[in-house]
Amino acid sequence: MQSYTVEPATGIRGEIRVPGDKSISHRSIMFGSIASGITRVSGFLRGEDALATLEAFRAMGVQIDDDGETVTIHGKGLHGLEEPGDVLDCGNSGTSMRLLTGLLAGQNFFSVLSGDKYLRARPMKRVVGPLSRMGARISGRAGGEKAPLAIQGGQLTGIEYDSPVSSAQVKSAIMLAGLYADGETVVREPHLSRDHSERMLRAFGARVETFPGGVRVFGGPELTGRDIVVPGDISSAAFFMVAALIVPGSELLIRGVGVNPTRTGILDILKGMGGDIELLNEREESGEPVADLLVRSSKLKAMEISGEVVPRAIDEFPSICVAAALAEGTTVVRDASELRVKETDRIAAMADNLRRAGVTVTETPDGMEITGVASLKGCAADSFGDHRIAMSMTVAGLTAKGNTTISDVECIATSFPGFRELLEGVVRR
Ligand code: S3P
Repeated sequence: MQSYTVEPATGIRGEIRVPGDKSISHRSIMFGSIASGITRVSGFLRGEDALATLEAFRAMGVQIDDDGETVTIHGKGLHGLEEPGDVLDCGNSGTSMRLLTGLLAGQNFFSVLSGDKYLRARPMKRVVGPLSRMGARISGRAGGEKAPLAIQGGQLTGIEYDSPVSSAQVKSAIMLAGLYADGETVVREPHLSRDHSERMLRAFGARVETFPGGVRVFGGPELTGRDIVVPGDISSAAFFMVAALIVPGSELLIRGVGVNPTRTGILDILKGMGGDIELLNEREESGEPVADLLVRSSKLKAMEISGEVVPRAIDEFPSICVAAALAEGTTVVRDASELRVKETDRIAAMADNLRRAGVTVTETPDGMEITGVASLKGCAADSFGDHRIAMSMTVAGLTAKGNTTISDVECIATSFPGFRELLEGVVRR
């Protein structure tokens, strides 16, 4: 297990670009593979998660070339995938596993999905349940709750599904199965989760209708390959935003960040806490809103975070916890029980780490209360094998008194290869 030590910073200054959006990168490979013709993807995230998806499609007979700039997918059409000769390894990636489960349920072949020990511990019934209602034959450990999942693909029928969770992975898995199903498939969710599947599938030519509270897809579309520009991942930018806000004397420009409204909960929350963040040069690329973000050090204050903003910021809570730890007052997070079933239990992991840094944190079943301090203590932090915990505690270390050591940092490569180097390039000491 690798670890590294973070020294306090005196400022975060300069201009950066963050790697491509993880969610959009996964979808570009999946949709490009089942479209007819060529899809060229620029800005593709070469992190382990998205690469697991890429390798899975290669294993199903799709030619995918990567010249280091552009990823070129030679699409096989809706019914062109081939039975893989081995288990498809999703690594740490919940998006790979859950979306693939939906897609594979409609193929006329057998496949098995597995992953690392963290992914094999995560709940899969949330997709296996509704897909079974569509006629899918999927079995797995713990009665289909846990991977490995074995999928005997076959004919599916469209359903109407009211999802109890606001989850883009659940929604997208059912939508993908819906492309192969007879008739229409409707998914409703309590609050709108990220809508990259809706936007991208429509751009590929699928009939996708959105309405308040849900989405409807129609089976048997003709999808056509296209060029995709992947914007910078706002979930990766979040670590740099929080770093620039909490380290005094900072001014950082983050160029080309995706600002899809289903992802900008982090901006609403940090601005609500008093963060100085400006959106510049707002534009649209490949059907996704993009902007440059100018962030300056700010005096933060606590706030209550609950309701519809939670799914729009779901991956950013570890870094939000760090901002809250340095804000004046007690930040209360509610309605966020989904954090307990991410790559690790992110409520428990951040509570544990922030306590080590001298912060008072109370856990609740669906959130936490964090009372801010004037400065953190250097400490020995643990990533719990979760990339976003590792990066959040790295950011925390920049303002601590003394050094902070983070253990088990290899996981950062799942979503943000080059994180440390990019950060060191803008840190002033
Ligand atoms: C993702 C959806 C979210 C998010 C994950 C990526 C996606 O998961 O946490 O990092 O690409 O659809 P849930 O659907 O479990 O909320």
